[in-house]
Amino acid sequence: MEPRPEKFLLSLMALSRTTIQQPDILEAMNALDGELLGVSYRHACKLPPAVFTDAFSDGQTRSKLWALSIMEKLWGPDLGTVFVAAGWVCQLAFFMARHPRLRVHKVRSFDICREATSMADDLNRQWVIDSWRFKAVCKDIFELDMWEPSYEVTNFKGEQVILNGEYPDLVINTACEHIQDFGKWWGTVPVGLRCVLQSNDFFSQAHHVNCMRDLEEFKASAPMRKVLFAGELPLPKYKRFMICGIR
Ligand SMILES: C[S@@+](CC[C@H](N)C(=O)[O-])C[C@H]1O[C@@H](n2cnc3c(N)ncnc32)[C@H](O)[C@@H]1O
Repeated sequence: MEPRPEKFLLSLMALSRTTIQQPDILEAMNALDGELLGVSYRHACKLPPAVFTDAFSDGQTRSKLWALSIMEKLWGPDLGTVFVAAGWVCQLAFFMARHPRLRVHKVRSFDICREATSMADDLNRQWVIDSWRFKAVCKDIFELDMWEPSYEVTNFKGEQVILNGEYPDLVINTACEHIQDFGKWWGTVPVGLRCVLQSNDFFSQAHHVNCMRDLEEFKASAPMRKVLFAGELPLPKYKRFMICGIR
């Protein structure tokens, strides 16, 4: 089944049905009509229909907008260079690019799946063509050295290019429930770095290898020097947990 524009718009506007009060973001999303909606929709439509439906589902959309709203309060408007670990198709960057106030220098999305990496570049094409403000990297996050980052990306000719010395100001992992041996990965995140982590209690999903029973368990699994935000977002099928702070 092909994705439908109205479904896309509805998921962008899911915010209106949440308890998060951000009328200005809603306004910006509402303004995504005409040309801008066309461009956004064309990029989103490059995703296979099943991925589109999943990536822009109500729960995914609300969780990403929730993260952006807290990030803006803590560190906005300029987030600097952002690393997204296990970024999947990186709809987070897609929403960042359309946020009315947040700015980023660069976003790098790391995912072990080559297909997801290429879909992330397609979805975020507007930032890819803007001097690689966004670039997806096919990489196991356990092999990413955030102290001395160096990684290979594919350019538009299909050639491999090495990017060095792009230091993160912020690391985001909204897929902690998918990370096997999460504690080991957390050990690779530089102490002192700003971070945003999300997980959930959706134990019944096959790929969820690191779900959390509650927020306290999540906090204990990712000790930080300073926790600046910890909260949960009730969604119809599960609860999303988020902690933000200084590693
Ligand atoms: C389905 S997605 C995440 C959904 C999540 N709720 C979110 O919004 O971010 C999970 C992603 O984690 C990636 N992943 C899992 N383990 C990884 C690893 N060790 N390194 C990089 N990516 C990984 C998978 O390839 C997949 O794209």
